[in-house]
Amino acid sequence: MSIPARIKKIVETTDTLIVYWKNGEVSKYPYLYLRDNCPSPSTIHSSGQKLIETPAINPAICPKNSELNNDTEVQINWETEEHTSLFSAQWLFDHRLSKAAIAERREQRIAREPVNLWDDALNDNIPVGDYTEVSVSDEALCAWLENVSRYGFAVLRNVPAELGMVCKVVELFGYVRETNYGKLFDVKTRVNPSNLAFTSLGLSAHTDNPYRNPTPTLQLLHCLQSSAVGGNSVVVDGFKIMADLKLHSPQMFHLLSTTPVTFRFENEHEWIERTDTIIGIDVFGEVNAMRFNNRSVQAFEVDEDNMPAFYTAYQHLAKMIDDERYFVQFKMEATDLFIVDNERVMHGRSAYDGSAGERFLQGTYADRDGLLSKLRVLKRKAITQLV
Ligand SMILES: [Fe+2]
Repeated sequence: MSIPARIKKIVETTDTLIVYWKNGEVSKYPYLYLRDNCPSPSTIHSSGQKLIETPAINPAICPKNSELNNDTEVQINWETEEHTSLFSAQWLFDHRLSKAAIAERREQRIAREPVNLWDDALNDNIPVGDYTEVSVSDEALCAWLENVSRYGFAVLRNVPAELGMVCKVVELFGYVRETNYGKLFDVKTRVNPSNLAFTSLGLSAHTDNPYRNPTPTLQLLHCLQSSAVGGNSVVVDGFKIMADLKLHSPQMFHLLSTTPVTFRFENEHEWIERTDTIIGIDVFGEVNAMRFNNRSVQAFEVDEDNMPAFYTAYQHLAKMIDDERYFVQFKMEATDLFIVDNERVMHGRSAYDGSAGERFLQGTYADRDGLLSKLRVLKRKAITQLV
């Protein structure tokens, strides 16, 4: 339990309110920021959405006067408009604007949604849930979704081997992402397949559909029949590989995170393509995506002087992805399902003998934001029930 925030004094400057805290800290809040974030019902709706039009606020807004009520509330009567704002000390403390406070809040957000990088050691402890529990218990569903968030993949057992169940699993946490393959797709050996996934060949680990923008961020595969020999599923943590690559070959990491490549899927009816980097970097400079699919990547558009270095990096990455030290492997039996974060964890399979048995899976796509939303709501509910 954190100590309630208490204010010692406040001081007005030309454009900023300075708050002196009883714990010795000093915080500065530009008036424009305070007016924009005034908690009054005329500024922020009870839903949390802002009612105020930020561009309409006078940028030179300043207080007529400001007061400290006890040590727990700041009242500001504004000079340039007939409005009073009341800020609790706790709100002000939770919104301190020093670089250190902002960095601390970012660390707290990261800690709330931890990510564990993994390699083949995870084979001893594959994250798994049971559909018979996950489909009826918030607690079990929360634990399974937490695994997806943390490891980027999870297995689910005892999903009835019935057509369409893969979509029912998505409905536990979000929405099916329909594509040109339909709401769901069958994965079994086909004559004249449109995609190598529909043959009995082995598939090196890859992310699906990097040619789409946005790319589906979740893929689910549900096994309805499994009597063929071979066909082990393989998953590989792209974030772990990128962390290792950055450590051992920063130059290769740089090339793969800055060089645009094009992924394309094209047939008589579709022409879907996206140009982006293989390693995605977010606004904080952290890895946030892996796009690797050697089947759909197009001829590299890298200038002739730099092409050899790019190939060195690309082949190095591909060899890491093919290195069994990064493999988590399991045999999908009927009623098993697995889900992957499709911009983090690559999936593949070993070849199987389609003539000596049946292998039938159904797959579908969904999006990570829906899953994370459901997970946060379930966690909040669990905490509320504890209080
Ligand atoms: Fe795939």
